Amino acid sequence: MNTSKITRKNFLKVTGGTSALMFLPGFFLNSCENDATPNREADPSFIPDIEFELTAHPSEVSILPGAKTKVWKYSGKIINGRKDALQTLDDNYLGPIFRVKTGEKIRVRFKSELDEITIVHWHGLHVPEEMDGHPKYVIEQGEEYVYEFEVKDRAGTYWFHPHPHELTGPQVYSGLAGLFIVNDTEEQKLNLPSGKDEIPIVIQDRTFDSDNQLVYINSPMDRMTGFLGDQIVVNGKSNFSLNLDTKAYRLRLLNGSNSRIYKLAWNDGTPFTVIGTDGGLLEKPVEKEYLTFGPAERFDIIADFSNKEPGDEIKLVSLPFPSTISGMGGMMGRGMMGGNNNASVEMGSRLNLLSLNIKNRVDRKFNLASRLSTLEKLNPQDAVNFNNPRKFVFGMGGHMRWTINNRTFEMNEVADYEKVKLDTSEIWEFVNGGGRGMMGGMMQMPHPVHIHGLQFRIIERISDGGFDETFDSFKDGFVDEGWKDSFLLLPGTRVKVLLRFEDFTGMYLYHCHNLEHEDMGMMRNYMITK
Ligand code: C2O
Ligand code: CU
Ligand code: CU
Repeated sequence: MNTSKITRKNFLKVTGGTSALMFLPGFFLNSCENDATPNREADPSFIPDIEFELTAHPSEVSILPGAKTKVWKYSGKIINGRKDALQTLDDNYLGPIFRVKTGEKIRVRFKSELDEITIVHWHGLHVPEEMDGHPKYVIEQGEEYVYEFEVKDRAGTYWFHPHPHELTGPQVYSGLAGLFIVNDTEEQKLNLPSGKDEIPIVIQDRTFDSDNQLVYINSPMDRMTGFLGDQIVVNGKSNFSLNLDTKAYRLRLLNGSNSRIYKLAWNDGTPFTVIGTDGGLLEKPVEKEYLTFGPAERFDIIADFSNKEPGDEIKLVSLPFPSTISGMGGMMGRGMMGGNNNASVEMGSRLNLLSLNIKNRVDRKFNLASRLSTLEKLNPQDAVNFNNPRKFVFGMGGHMRWTINNRTFEMNEVADYEKVKLDTSEIWEFVNGGGRGMMGGMMQMPHPVHIHGLQFRIIERISDGGFDETFDSFKDGFVDEGWKDSFLLLPGTRVKVLLRFEDFTGMYLYHCHNLEHEDMGMMRNYMITK
């Protein structure tokens, strides 16, 4: 059974904490809302195809050259079923990669050895409420939570990470995250590069002290803007590089950073060939000069190096873009907020993410199908609220807190406007706007919006002006053609999405996936009822 105790972990350096608490009264102090939701046990009538064990535990891994780094990580094993359903990574903080097929029934016995509450959320998956990792289901050290569900999603790149309220940012930062890859028969027919030619790329940023240990949160400003690390870590390693041959690869990209946005490009100017987004394959490949990559988003791309030469080096970079933070930046620079923000690499800096070294010439031509999948036709008129979309304003509320419609997270509360009906389609309009608070309208930032429990379609992005420079520097990098569970809501813009509530009733989350914003309460429940 849960109690409400939260212990601070002692290895992750959190500086400026005291001033942050003074600055945001009540920020870390009101986590006592989850009393005694019973931990879930296995249901003997559920017959899994594959049974996994997944444990969150402290560990030490190599990220930088030299001393190992203390981390928290997920380790897993197969208890029963297909042995190739889990791919473990050695000496890495990233969790094992789940590789499951649509239609498979899985049981995951999740155990925690952390001295802090936690729970696992399967990001992007369409699962019953009890399997979604709502923070009310947190477990404590030594406890177990058993997930049992059928994988209903299309082939795609999903992921999993912790979701305890007010602690998601530091827990993901400590290392807790992993990929959940789904395959299906439709995808199989495309003969996409597979095996060693299918490469997951998890992009994160971290800051280390001189002993190679993780440092989180430099200043109260880090909480307001979101934490930015000063080093890029790809697949759990700094200075990540790969040796490849002159052929085509499938890269599955995840932005697993707490708050950093990337503007992805190949350094030689080759356009990207995008075949999939958060919720799986697109109808047909899309070419992009660059990709706007917000936290939690995924891109599935084909990178064909068949016209490269052995010895060539290609870099995946993040192109520079103008500061995305307006208001606060000018009014009170980061220094004035009490931070000693000496090391951080600003949002929008040009970055090298990874290097690909072409080694051998091989003669293997790859032809990408011109038609990848058939997507359900978009019919916004089918929405029950077509003429009057629900509106969600992401902005700064009172007391300098990030809010949604001027509200912050309440563990078990759902407002009237957050209740929807099963088996209906709706349009939700997300607005990046001010809010009524003292700072209302004065501070705007991009918010990576995420909705739990389903995949949706983006039907419109509207710029209301005022932030044209930011909008123009990102707009050609959106891939809105497919299924999404997360999207970047830029300052001065509105985004309309079409959702359908199917199969499951219950309470799910929607929130900002800037994890510091989420922990600050920029998260709400919505309820699906019959
Ligand atoms: Cu990836 Cu609610 O989160
Ligand atoms: Cu999620
Ligand atoms: Cu946000």
